[in-house]
Amino acid sequence: MSRNKNELADGTNIADLVRIDTREVQMRTLEDREIYELEQERLFGKTWLMLGHESEIPNSNDFVLRYMGDDSVIVTRTKDGEVHVSLNVCPHRGMKICTTEAGNSPVHTCIYHGWAFRSNGDFLGSPIEKECMHGKIMEKEELGLRKARVTLYGGLIFATWNLEGESFDEFLGDAKWYYDLMFCRSDAGMEVAGPPQRFIVRANWKTAGEQSAADGFHTLMLHRWLGEVGNYKKEGAGSDLAEEMYGAEVSSPHGHALRCIDLARKIRRLTGKEPSELSLEEKLRILPPPGMTAETVDQLKNNLTDDQMEVLAWMPPQVGGMFPNIVFAFIYIPQPDGTVIGSMALHTYVPKGPDKLEFMNWVLVEKDTPPELKEQMVKQTLNLLGTSGMVEQDDSDTWPQMTISAKGPQGSKSTMKYQAIYETSKPKGWPGPGIVNEGFTKDDTQWHWWLYWLELMTAEK
Ligand code: FES
Ligand SMILES: [Fe+2]
Repeated sequence: MSRNKNELADGTNIADLVRIDTREVQMRTLEDREIYELEQERLFGKTWLMLGHESEIPNSNDFVLRYMGDDSVIVTRTKDGEVHVSLNVCPHRGMKICTTEAGNSPVHTCIYHGWAFRSNGDFLGSPIEKECMHGKIMEKEELGLRKARVTLYGGLIFATWNLEGESFDEFLGDAKWYYDLMFCRSDAGMEVAGPPQRFIVRANWKTAGEQSAADGFHTLMLHRWLGEVGNYKKEGAGSDLAEEMYGAEVSSPHGHALRCIDLARKIRRLTGKEPSELSLEEKLRILPPPGMTAETVDQLKNNLTDDQMEVLAWMPPQVGGMFPNIVFAFIYIPQPDGTVIGSMALHTYVPKGPDKLEFMNWVLVEKDTPPELKEQMVKQTLNLLGTSGMVEQDDSDTWPQMTISAKGPQGSKSTMKYQAIYETSKPKGWPGPGIVNEGFTKDDTQWHWWLYWLELMTAEK
């Protein structure tokens, strides 16, 4: 008798892993190999995944190797300037075509029997043409590398195996309005400040993925020092970070999440004035978005609507994620003299088995950020959000412990709870779209993340 496609080997229905009525998720989801393998097909085989930034491959025939779930892919720029993503598996006998992490080559030749491919993945030929080593059954057009569907957004490279599925804009939905404030705001756009940092964390990818969906509460405890230490100390606030983190949180039916945090306290500290006493332009010049300066903020008008500019000067998105495995931090790092330096980091958590993930960290700058500011941004971002950064050391301690908890026979039957959901609605006068709740972040965003995980894991096709 064939099993229902949503039934695990022990008879558990996948739908029962997430309890809608009590908003609980089975810990088993964090360690089970069967679930992990289904995720590879139903989730990493279907959604849009971020692989890097086009400034990593600026020249024709540049390439980098990345992963879409468990599959290695070659991300290339062809001589006509297009970005392509091809499966790094030789169609002849399955050898990895490309074995170096990055480089420049117009042709990728398999080291096993020598089949060769153009940088767009097309089959070029096999070594001994007259022997017709690739046979006569298939045309050359059929022997190319498997190609993913690619889109560029703010220079970020996204790809999916779902060739006929929703567009990237549909995938972002209402959340796009907010991501545009970060990735599509300047005239020249962004670039990476070097190759991504990488390190392995002994944790299930979802421990980091669900936290990325704007878990604000952990910041108060796990990163408590952010309110207590050095430049981060909040004068007169003790360890209370609540005002600093007050804002609006954007949830998405696709599991995306953004924490839009009120800049009022920073503006007061910098000017001694209430934000209401200042014009929109004044606020943006006093506290330009990370990577921008008082001189370059005029560009915002070219790229954003008035409503978007208002949110950018009031409660800009500062931390959050994009489903399934991306986190971003576009934050203002306090300096000893009371000023701030912007920081822009993007991480992905690439699955490497049920209890292992590869943490990738890109530091971003605006292309026209002045060089000395770029340098400061990179240093500060790495100190805070790099592989040895103070924040990431906190997080990468809890994720493995949760994964270990999920391995115990009793622990695997425990649940994670997302019960702090209060639906407070948008702040008064909020001009942005989507599901928005005012106040300190709660569990709404992470619960939406799990609901979308469940939707994909139980989808008909
Ligand atoms: S496996 Fe690549 S040429 Fe044979
Ligand atoms: Fe964290």
